Amino acid sequence: MMTSSSSFRSLMAAALVATVLCLQLGGGAVAQQLREDYYDCTCPDAYNIVKRVLIEAHKSDVRIYASLIRLHFHDCFVQGCDGSLLLDGVPGVINSEKGAPPNNGSARGFPVVDAAKAALEAACPGIVSCADILALASEISVDLSGGPKWGVLLGRLDGKTADFNGASNLPSPFDNLTMLERKFKAVRLDNVDLVALSGAHTFGRVQCRLVTGRLYNFSGTNRPDPTLDAGYRAFLSQRCPRNGSGSVLNDLDPTTPDTFDKNYYDNLEVNRGFLNSDQELKSAPQAQGVTAPIVDRFARSQDDFFASFAQSMINMGNIMPLTDPTKGEIRKNCRKVNGS
Ligand code: HEM
Ligand SMILES: *[C@@H]1O[C@H](CO)[C@@H](O)[C@H](O)[C@H]1NC(C)=O
Ligand SMILES: *[C@@H]1O[C@H](CO)[C@@H](O)[C@H](O)[C@H]1NC(C)=O
Ligand SMILES: *[C@@H]1O[C@H](CO)[C@@H](O)[C@H](O)[C@H]1NC(C)=O
Ligand SMILES: *[C@@H]1O[C@H](CO)[C@@H](O)[C@H](O)[C@H]1NC(C)=O
Repeated sequence: MMTSSSSFRSLMAAALVATVLCLQLGGGAVAQQLREDYYDCTCPDAYNIVKRVLIEAHKSDVRIYASLIRLHFHDCFVQGCDGSLLLDGVPGVINSEKGAPPNNGSARGFPVVDAAKAALEAACPGIVSCADILALASEISVDLSGGPKWGVLLGRLDGKTADFNGASNLPSPFDNLTMLERKFKAVRLDNVDLVALSGAHTFGRVQCRLVTGRLYNFSGTNRPDPTLDAGYRAFLSQRCPRNGSGSVLNDLDPTTPDTFDKNYYDNLEVNRGFLNSDQELKSAPQAQGVTAPIVDRFARSQDDFFASFAQSMINMGNIMPLTDPTKGEIRKNCRKVNGS
């Protein structure tokens, strides 16, 4: 048993250590590496603040967790994880990435990012970047959906530009495996990253217009995609008739639509991937011996998938981190460059 005075002394020692650490780490004006403990001194409750906002949003929107991780992906693949996706358009100045085909009528969850930013600004003004909010929201969303946890690396700054053309060139659901590999390699992500990160299609929704080609006129053949399971094709044809509305929503993983699990890979094994880009990972001729064995491995072991997914999320979050304070800033409003 400690005496009260010795426990008081150790408390004081801990406080002293924390103070010294804060003095050392309290972000000087130099470019830094991303770190798990980046906000421990300046905004120690950041994770829980974001988590509370997400849980609240989820009460009226079960899809929000999926939508938020997709925003992080679309942010990171375009000039790095710098919050560029979040900027609204300003004529002649910012050509918003939100209008690019992969995002237009598709990327969602921006008001929840705003709510997280507002809550963080109330608790610790000017401290937590919008790019980091997306990284935190991704991990929290996966965790709350039954997936793995990981230590989110933090310390990104927000950029002051958007790249509409870059956003237009995001990986496409119509891409073949060669194109997917190329687009991932361009941001230094490998085939394990490609297969693991695609596993995020274990939750969330997808519009009919992205599958009608596979259902009715695959590669201009006027025939369905032969790699699409016949039962799943019949099911999707009901939901997505040839001349129906392209914006009707479907589950990316109909087996467990809102749960983060390995079922995405089980679906690929039986030709029930929704997007061409999904099924390519298993069924493309060039997938054999390359990405197909990775699909097989994740279908066999959810633990393997979760471990790889966590690592690949860290890899994706490390795409060209913007940490140079002469080039980035902590936005006050995620939609606008400060002072604009
Ligand atoms: C491999 C290349 C990828 C392609 C071609 C792709 C494509 C798509 C498409 C077309 C949609 C449906 C959009 C809509 O219907 O409006 C979608 C949804 C989604 N994607 Fe991907 N994606 C890819 C990788 C990723 C990655 C790396 C992540 C995250 C780590 C991700 C997470 C999601 C999620 C969670 C949804 C559902 C979003 C919602 O319900 O709002 N995707 N993706
Ligand atoms: C986004 O889609 C809407 C509705 O389809 C369209 O009116 C608008 O022009 C599109 N935005 C861009 C930048 O293409
Ligand atoms: C993949 O798609 C690209 C671009 O559409 C095309 O040039 C290439 O031939 C395709 N590769 C295969 C193996 O289908
Ligand atoms: C099928 O796709 C091809 C090539 O994209 C296109 O030329 C053709 O008009 C389409 N057929 C129908 C019936 O939509
Ligand atoms: C759907 O539209 C095509 C032309 O795009 C037309 O030829 C066909 O008859 C339509 N099918 C139905 C079921 O309405």
